[in-house]
Amino acid sequence: MSHTTSVTPSPSAPASPLVTRRNFIQIALAALGASWLGLLVQSWLFPSQTATQAAKPVEIALSELPIGGVKTITYGGSPVIVLRTTESIRAFSMICTHLGCLVQWQEGQKEFYCPCHDGRFDQFGEVIAGPPPVPLEQIAVSVQGERVTIGEVI
Ligand code: FES
Repeated sequence: MSHTTSVTPSPSAPASPLVTRRNFIQIALAALGASWLGLLVQSWLFPSQTATQAAKPVEIALSELPIGGVKTITYGGSPVIVLRTTESIRAFSMICTHLGCLVQWQEGQKEFYCPCHDGRFDQFGEVIAGPPPVPLEQIAVSVQGERVTIGEVI
């Protein structure tokens, strides 16, 4: 015949590290859920202009983009970086595909760097290191004479 006993911690006993960790995780998850719900409600109540704003092409002069240089613009309400190399002109969203921090162009390394979690993308926007799951979003670019158009031309 088996004999089982139940041990109930006294209310004045200090919490074990396991219980403390569990409580912390529960509180953190509850806070995360509440934050997410708050953002969801806010987006329903106050839809941002960015979300509804159609992305209109942005024109810049070719002279504003020296070879090897970059220029940041706003396209569709989001920051975009335009990069000119000896071969081409490309534009990428500056929003990291991991958790949304802003990437920076590092001329010396010829790569985009996300300081939040050391994400790195090559000059074509492809992930080369860190946690980003997919490449940077690339924006269409067309060049006509001295005009560089970023975004779809309507
Ligand atoms: Fe860019 Fe995490 S947000 S690497």
